Amino acid sequence: MPVDNSNMLKVIEDFPQQCRTALELPKGMSVSGKVDKIVVCGMGGSAVGGDLLKIYLHNAKIPIFVVRGYNVPNFVDENTLVFAVSYSGNTEETLSAYEDALKRKAKIVAVTSGGSLGQLAKKVIKIPSGLQPRAALGYTFFPVLGVLANSAIVDVKSAEISEMLSILSKTNDFKSLGEKIAKKIQNRTPIVYASELLGAIAYRWKTQFNENSKIAAFCHVFSEMNHNEIASYQSMSKDRYTAIFIRDKEDNERVKKRMDITKEIISTKVDVEEVFTKGEHLLARVFSGIYYGDFVSYYLALANKTDPTPVTVIENLKKKLK
Ligand code: F6R
Repeated sequence: MPVDNSNMLKVIEDFPQQCRTALELPKGMSVSGKVDKIVVCGMGGSAVGGDLLKIYLHNAKIPIFVVRGYNVPNFVDENTLVFAVSYSGNTEETLSAYEDALKRKAKIVAVTSGGSLGQLAKKVIKIPSGLQPRAALGYTFFPVLGVLANSAIVDVKSAEISEMLSILSKTNDFKSLGEKIAKKIQNRTPIVYASELLGAIAYRWKTQFNENSKIAAFCHVFSEMNHNEIASYQSMSKDRYTAIFIRDKEDNERVKKRMDITKEIISTKVDVEEVFTKGEHLLARVFSGIYYGDFVSYYLALANKTDPTPVTVIENLKKKLK
């Protein structure tokens, strides 16, 4: 019996092409005037692009905040560039945050496939509809990056983009490792770790396990987990969990050492899988880390005979709130 009824596999396989298309969408869209803060508002799959932007800009002078909720922070003013990102355009928290930013006279750009947000916002980057929001990460990330580049707020090098596209295009590498790791996780609960900087990748893996595979999953970051969560392994019964370490060549040397030692310590209780990001530039490394997780969660869904696409409970909850 086929379980992937909406062909999520093709959507994930087409992700490099989605990124190529998404890169074209913000052409000609920029903001003018002073911008000294960036805020990305979104929920669930539509907030992930904000998290990735925060990683990408971690060395920039301009602060960036991701808001998952109904209000923007009090510091939002006319010098704040706010991105309201909602794939459907109908997410109530994002619509509320949009209204809040409007009251505070922020510069606002909406990224959406339509819905109420598409109608309300003056500056809109319209993205293609028909996908699950979490599968539309290219469409929710690159338009934001493009507006920042067009407005001379960030400098995006074409070499970074081409490296990322070329690495992601080797889709089979991601698929085969994804399938392999999924087999090791089957019937266990994954706990995903990354460095503090790349914690959003671990969080994305967790949410993809939740939404695609429909299983519980947890995530945490190094080195914070060395100061609390590591103690919980003491009471862990064998074979209930699998730990996954997302490792990056630029991880702090002390973090690398902590990951090695932690692996040694917790290996008595859990299997530890290590996934290495690919590429020289941060953009490729971040997206490769994400792309592995998309395939792992997909193959885990299949192994559990679960259709990866529908998230009926989320839809029903939204209906009940209306
Ligand atoms: C569904 C998904 C969800 C949505 C979230 C917000 O695939 O990823 O996490 O992203 O419920 O909805 P949108 O993205 O339409 O604003």
